[in-house]
Amino acid sequence: MLKIVVLRWGHRPQRDARLTTHVVLTARALGASGFILSDTKDKKIKETIEEVTKNWGGPFFFEMGVPWKKVVKEWKSKTGIVVHLTAYGENIRTSDVLQRIKTSEKDVLVVIGSQKVPKEFFSRCVSDFNVAIGNQPHSECASLAVFLDSFFEGKELTESFEKAKMRIIPQKRGKKIVRK
Ligand SMILES: C[S@@+](CC[C@H](N)C(=O)[O-])C[C@H]1O[C@@H](n2cnc3c(N)ncnc32)[C@H](O)[C@@H]1O
Repeated sequence: MLKIVVLRWGHRPQRDARLTTHVVLTARALGASGFILSDTKDKKIKETIEEVTKNWGGPFFFEMGVPWKKVVKEWKSKTGIVVHLTAYGENIRTSDVLQRIKTSEKDVLVVIGSQKVPKEFFSRCVSDFNVAIGNQPHSECASLAVFLDSFFEGKELTESFEKAKMRIIPQKRGKKIVRK
């Protein structure tokens, strides 16, 4: 099974804590293996994610503070590819970019921004593919969700998580949780 890891660049602890938390939760829930918050640390987010993974299962790793260049270099040295999500990239529906990503049969590092990303992100030496989830600017959380769902063809929504202490039993109404 091909692996996806998400790298978030540009997190500002005072402004972005809630959105970054949502992006990490989205990555975990929609099939990514792990998340790297590059170039900065946010202890609160790490605690929240570790708590969620402890209760709701994994496997899912969270790392922070690593320089993005180091992450990209190491990822490529292990023959993974880098996909940068940007409104300026190749449209995921009107181009064959997703097909080309999948036929590479390589693990994917998905790079998402926050504030305006460094120009280098668009270059060949960083991103193997620049992918647009539609060519309108919107949100890193929405673009990540659509990319993951397209990549895994919706199957990630049926997966069960290992070592979960709590599990939701789907209901027409109300809430049902089983605890181990
Ligand atoms: C709120 S946007 C900020 C973009 C920033 N103003 C700029 O010009 O680069 C934050 C991130 O969301 C993602 N994003 C936003 N719209 C997107 C789209 N249509 N397709 C793919 N990614 C998108 C990108 O990863 C981007 O770095």
